[in-house]
Amino acid sequence: MRVGILGGGQLGRMIALAGYPLGIRCTVLDPTAESSAAQVCDHIRGEFDDFQALYQLAQKSDVVTYEFENVPVESARWLAERVPIFPPPRALEVSQDRLVEKTFFQTLGIPTPPFAAVTERHEFDNALAEIGLPAVLKTRRFGYDGKGQVVIRTRAAAERAWEKLGGRPLILEGFVPFDRELSVLAVRGRDGEIATYPLVENEHRDGILHRSLAPAGDTAEELTERAAEYASRILTELDYVGVLAVEWFQDGPRLLANEMAPRVHNSGHWTIEGAHTSQFENHLRAVCGLPLGRCDPVGWSAMFNFIGNVSPAADVLKFTEAHLHTYGKSPRPARKVGHVTLRAETAEELRDKLPEWSRVFDRPDQGPG
Ligand SMILES: Nc1ncnc2c1ncn2[C@@H]1O[C@H](COP(=O)(O)OP(=O)(O)O)[C@@H](O)[C@H]1O
Ligand SMILES: [Mg+2]
Repeated sequence: MRVGILGGGQLGRMIALAGYPLGIRCTVLDPTAESSAAQVCDHIRGEFDDFQALYQLAQKSDVVTYEFENVPVESARWLAERVPIFPPPRALEVSQDRLVEKTFFQTLGIPTPPFAAVTERHEFDNALAEIGLPAVLKTRRFGYDGKGQVVIRTRAAAERAWEKLGGRPLILEGFVPFDRELSVLAVRGRDGEIATYPLVENEHRDGILHRSLAPAGDTAEELTERAAEYASRILTELDYVGVLAVEWFQDGPRLLANEMAPRVHNSGHWTIEGAHTSQFENHLRAVCGLPLGRCDPVGWSAMFNFIGNVSPAADVLKFTEAHLHTYGKSPRPARKVGHVTLRAETAEELRDKLPEWSRVFDRPDQGPG
């Protein structure tokens, strides 16, 4: 099988790497010369709206997928007329716009934080009055890693937020005083079969994922089942094929949907060593029409991102439980350049070792030193 991937970041790289043992060859389309994925598989250099490049990708692929949700929907639809493309372009369309996405969740009966559409100044004032403070003002499109959003706690902060973001299509959300953030990854095959990974507990710093624990600790069976059931509503509604990630706020017994990603996800990197089948392999299996692999965990995992720069391998690998992944990206502040997954056999072992792992890996922009 030949799989084309729109986007050449680390997610594309890890999908391509997962393809080799299965005999699946990947080609990425990406505008940058030395993209993370292009270092490990074939590469077509071009913009996502360059139809000549898209045509080349279609020629070289039996099926096309994405590793990045901001691919222009028109490009995905154009490709869909030439080659099977999964997940369906409609999944891109829904997840590219926070207002469309949250409205979609509500249509499916999936709870979300309160939200309102804001474009004009008077809509902002009305939304503030309706939702109250604290709140979060976000751009509807193109936000990632906490970019394009401002938390508003006071009237003065509301003015500053408007100065910064006003004039674009926005969404105002109630700020959720969550107990913790969770995510669920689910995968749906071409035959409609669905498999779901256990809930993951995520810690963000400055809007960027810092650490994931999987399976999430102290999680009621009922919560896990509810997250899986919500995810399966989304998969079924979209006639989805591939891996889907949904991010949640847990507020007491409530599970509120924050956003979804129609692709493999950073909070699923632990599955490479910590689950029977990695998210990357299962995504490929799904889009290629192969049977899905088991999603159950193998032990208990902690994944830490390296933000800014990767720590020296010799320092990371002093931990015999550590698995290091580097993305071949040059160092830059706030950039995801690698991750480490540490795996324990039992929940107790994880609890015992986590403080030491966290002492070493809880260092944004440094990693262990
Ligand atoms: N309504 C909210 N209430 C509380 N925290 C929020 C809210 N929206 C976003 N956040 C915080 O900001 C992070 C990034 O926001 P998110 O909407 O997921 O954007 P991104 O696309 O940048 O990941 C979230 O993971 C969460 O920690
Ligand atoms: Mg997010």
